[in-house]
Amino acid sequence: MGSLSRAECEGLDARDPLAAVADEFPPGDPGWLYFDANSIGAMPIAAHRALGRVADEWRRLRRRGWSDADWLDGPVRLGNKLAPILGAEPGSVVVCDSTSVNLYKALRMAMTLRPERENIVAEAGAFPTDLYVAEAAARDQLAGGSLMRVEDANALAERIDRDTAVALVTHTDYRTSYRHDLASLVRRAHTHDALVVCDASHSAGAVEVGLAAAGVDFAVGCGYKYLCGGPGAPAWLYVAPRHQAQAESVIPGWMGHAEPMAMDPHYTPAEGARRHLAGTPSVAGNALMESALDLWRDVEPQAAFAKHKALSDLVIRVVEDLPSPRPMLAAPRDPARRGGFVSFRHREAEIYVRALETAKIVASYRAPDIVRFGVSPLYHRYVDVWTLGERLRSLHPERSQ
Ligand SMILES: Cc1ncc(COP(=O)(O)O)c(C=O)c1O
Repeated sequence: MGSLSRAECEGLDARDPLAAVADEFPPGDPGWLYFDANSIGAMPIAAHRALGRVADEWRRLRRRGWSDADWLDGPVRLGNKLAPILGAEPGSVVVCDSTSVNLYKALRMAMTLRPERENIVAEAGAFPTDLYVAEAAARDQLAGGSLMRVEDANALAERIDRDTAVALVTHTDYRTSYRHDLASLVRRAHTHDALVVCDASHSAGAVEVGLAAAGVDFAVGCGYKYLCGGPGAPAWLYVAPRHQAQAESVIPGWMGHAEPMAMDPHYTPAEGARRHLAGTPSVAGNALMESALDLWRDVEPQAAFAKHKALSDLVIRVVEDLPSPRPMLAAPRDPARRGGFVSFRHREAEIYVRALETAKIVASYRAPDIVRFGVSPLYHRYVDVWTLGERLRSLHPERSQ
């Protein structure tokens, strides 16, 4: 199938219900095309204002900032802004810490809810931090548990049984962009009374996660990818409302206390998602993240997911329209099974990604043979994908017969 013309892409942009949101992102370095939303999302114009505001509050208020500005409420306020994007219930998400730290908290909470069970089941190809953290969380189970690594996505559901405390599900695989059917995995896990902890880093802000509808127990994800929270942005943690009362933080710090400023020598967890905080919130990081979350104010998440699907399909079309030899699709063709980025296999993927940079295209490489193009529904335009196709074509000259 041939790809679209520039005029057709411009037509799609003109009819795009999210077009005004793309205008909220300033261009990057002149001439560069950034397809790395899976790594670090673009900076909203409002990020400058947000940082300036925090700097000004710091200058003027100092200690009074905690009471006179909105610094302390940030993690819960941002969680509530993020919840609709994740398909999560109000009050179930908190924005804090890193994904690795939140994953440990989530896994330990889940293990504590299944004290008689020992195992965490995860895919062997999960993002490395997830495996390291899961191994530690299993080891720290009172009964001394283990991490059971299964070879592929299909095997995950089959491996869940009555010894499984937790199925750790990477919603979207960081190499292939394969996206699990969360609802069916959760059904399978719950049949065996196991809990599901989901890492949705490569989905959140790009594709539907649907945490509440799927019945997920706990979930985590990065703030700096599709959510555009900036370098080192705080991550997020979801705890299903049905677990909120029993799930106590494994790091019961003062910010998760019912009354942090009461200086009570004994820990009493706060009500709701705030109990999952440990220490002082990252005020500047939260301000940057909030400037990005606020861009979703007038965005219907389903419209964003539909645009992401259309852009990703177009990326596939422009790559498959290149003369051979060309990168071969690694991501699922079915958009319902595909996450935030589109990946391709290339025998010399690392060299290929470097060659893309000579054409001012930022993509990313994962060993051994994966090239990833990360797509954002907020700031990519159809014409960006058309330009991507033109530049790729210049790197793939037609062979003369
Ligand atoms: C799927 C996945 N999980 C976890 C992480 C780690 O996140 P953090 O650095 O916030 O701990 C990453 C980072 O890229 C990731 O891709």
